[in-house]
Amino acid sequence: MGVTAAPKTGAEWAERAYEGMAVAYDDFTSHHEDEAWIADLLVALDYHGLDGNRLLDVGCGTGKSFLPMLSRGWEVTGCDISPSMLELAGEKAGEAVHLEVADMLALPKFGEFDLVWALDDTINYLLGAEELLQALTGMRENLAPSGLLLFDLNTLLAYRTFFAETTVVERQGRRMSWRGLAAPDVAPGSTCEARLEVAPDDEDNGRGKATVLTHRQRHFPQAEVLGALELAGLECLDTYGIYTDGIRKQPLDESIHTKAIYVARRPRP
Ligand SMILES: C[S@@+](CC[C@H](N)C(=O)[O-])C[C@H]1O[C@@H](n2cnc3c(N)ncnc32)[C@H](O)[C@@H]1O
Repeated sequence: MGVTAAPKTGAEWAERAYEGMAVAYDDFTSHHEDEAWIADLLVALDYHGLDGNRLLDVGCGTGKSFLPMLSRGWEVTGCDISPSMLELAGEKAGEAVHLEVADMLALPKFGEFDLVWALDDTINYLLGAEELLQALTGMRENLAPSGLLLFDLNTLLAYRTFFAETTVVERQGRRMSWRGLAAPDVAPGSTCEARLEVAPDDEDNGRGKATVLTHRQRHFPQAEVLGALELAGLECLDTYGIYTDGIRKQPLDESIHTKAIYVARRPRP
């Protein structure tokens, strides 16, 4: 029997995890209020002078992060490491969106975008400072001169709670069990794992087997992110923290917020 080699880069870990969970992703995240969260992010982006209608959605997954932008009239290009996630995005969006399989560690130049974003802890699948720098550099290359970059990251609190606890979601006859393996006092900058067990849905009539997928993410402390943005030739315009209620707050505090939001751009001459 062949032995499957362990993934090496963050991209390889993510591809394996999302190829396996694509069919269950929308069910697992059905409690996310994507429309409200994106409406709120647009308030922050407008404050920082968002202008234009061309979006590059990096790690767009099944399209949840770009559908609210399509309905606002934006031209969308989406990319993801997982072909199965993109296939589902394509089924929702059809010809309206340009979708490509791409690794954010080697992002092609898709064009010049007024907004480049990577939402819902996509960036946490990068596993070190070097990978973060590579990804940010590729995103900068895709920005129009006055374009904005926005991304979110899980905070230390998220790794000490969601990544340290078990969460079970049952939907459409499918049971999904997330078992966080991190310690409740995990150190800043740690790589954390969770095992997601996805049971077959009712249509399998109990014949199918559950799939177990490893999600491997890294915590990026604020100082490391700010340093990587600078090295990538980007100026950080603002940071925000959000609680589980999705309300954006300042200042970002990793001990009370579960997500951090960063807004950046190319420095003005
Ligand atoms: C939590 S999902 C978020 C999907 C979508 N942005 C949303 O808001 O629903 C993370 C996505 O990032 C993608 N991803 C992770 N690492 C990647 C990489 N190196 N390059 C491109 N996509 C990546 C995964 O395949 C997955 O679709």
